[in-house]
Amino acid sequence: TGFGWEADADLVVLGSGVAGLTAALRAKALGLRVLVVTKGTVDEGNTRWAQGGVAVVLEGTGETDTVAAHAADTVTAGAGLCATDAVTGIIGEGAGAVSALRRLGARFDEGPSGLARTREGGHSAFRVIHAGGDATGAEVERALVAEAGLRSVAVLERHVAVDALRSADGAVAGVSVLDPDGVAGVLRAPAVLLATGGFGQLYHATSNPEIATGDGVALALRAGATVADIEFVQFHPTVLFTPGARGRCPLVTEAVRGEGAVLVDATGAPVMRGVHPLADLAPRDVVSAAITRHLASAPGGVDDHVFLDATGISGFATRFPTVHAACAGAGIDPARDVIPVAPAAHFACGGVLTGTDGRTSVPGLYAAGEVARTGLHGANRLASNSLLEGLVVGGRAAEAVAEDLASGSLRRHVGETPEERVVPVAERDALQRLMSRYVAIGRDADGLAAAGSVLDLSVVDRPLWTQEAVEGAALTMLAQAVVASAARRQESRGCHVRTDFPGRDDENWQRSQLIRLSPSGQ
Ligand code: SIN
Repeated sequence: TGFGWEADADLVVLGSGVAGLTAALRAKALGLRVLVVTKGTVDEGNTRWAQGGVAVVLEGTGETDTVAAHAADTVTAGAGLCATDAVTGIIGEGAGAVSALRRLGARFDEGPSGLARTREGGHSAFRVIHAGGDATGAEVERALVAEAGLRSVAVLERHVAVDALRSADGAVAGVSVLDPDGVAGVLRAPAVLLATGGFGQLYHATSNPEIATGDGVALALRAGATVADIEFVQFHPTVLFTPGARGRCPLVTEAVRGEGAVLVDATGAPVMRGVHPLADLAPRDVVSAAITRHLASAPGGVDDHVFLDATGISGFATRFPTVHAACAGAGIDPARDVIPVAPAAHFACGGVLTGTDGRTSVPGLYAAGEVARTGLHGANRLASNSLLEGLVVGGRAAEAVAEDLASGSLRRHVGETPEERVVPVAERDALQRLMSRYVAIGRDADGLAAAGSVLDLSVVDRPLWTQEAVEGAALTMLAQAVVASAARRQESRGCHVRTDFPGRDDENWQRSQLIRLSPSGQ
């Protein structure tokens, strides 16, 4: 493969969601030459689809909520696998990160006394701030994109990162990239930050857009980095159900339940009654699993959706304009009708192992946002903690890069050329079918073994030099990692639900599984 073009920077940021743009802006402010590479346009990605909001304890008079209470809720939701330092470190910086974002011009909804706040599953207090009713991610992304424009942050749109460049000592020295015409180029940089988001596209039904294919985790694994908690794929309890749902399904934010809506089945019986003391506002792993069990035991055989009764919420269209529009598109009026909903793949709680400063186990490689595993989420992320994590860790990662450059621990390498790789790729539709059937909510040894062997049989070796191959290779590698980690974890915990091991086994399994490829790439 020839390389048609070349550029260099101090820091290359892969991805332009909340973590990537926050990092790029901070890096620029610190005087670094930064280059953002994004697969779509700058405002595409998961961030813009986030609805509920940003969970944050705001300082101020009359405030009864505390950072300690937010941290405790996070740890409870995380089902024994949160890293305490990540929880206290990230949540403690939430208010400062939100203030910084507001100074950039992000506008959150106001209530009678300061910012309006709502509740979502697992939160013991009203602490989720939101924008445009249920369009929080869109407003966060708008503000960051505008600021990136104002500060002339260089962005390569429609460019696909292929693989890390490695120096002889194993450090990351840049990244190979395909331009919009598919021409391979080289970006040389002593620091590369992964902010590529998650991999909802492993499943047929997901709240994630088409581009959420796990490219960052795959790139990190190939570069020798450690990945953790990958079996904990969070399913959002409520996306709008449409028969044969494929691709990105419209989210029905948990804030709808936060403001009083109730999950009911086809007979009108409440789904969450007697399941958890917080009923409809239990942590989302509990709600998703309860819906899945309820559907499996439907009187007429397995059912495919339940309903959300939001008819008691006054002013639904104003408070939840995004959900309202999605419902209207499906001929549903939430003021009158119950909303058909089902769980769908939503968020990767695991990812590339990092500290709260974004540093990975490989020099020169950093990660922030959904692609990273800081330990904030444990086995199940608390609602609306992810925009917060992207804001805090994105900023800190840029600071870590600046520090590492100043201290001389990152060296500029010249002349490294990317390796030519051939990678195993499974066909996307077959892979999604397999994962949705055997590796979603409710896994067991037989299903996981079947998924593993079908995957092994269906891969075809492909050169890693097209967007399709990059995404296919990432999804395939992620599928194998999720299947293997889920098969080993013989217990149920957080969003990993084993029907053959229904209990939580703290004695053997209160620990994260770490994954690293051997140097030969196996
Ligand atoms: C939602 O609005 O329900 C999604 C919030 C989240 O995933 O954190």
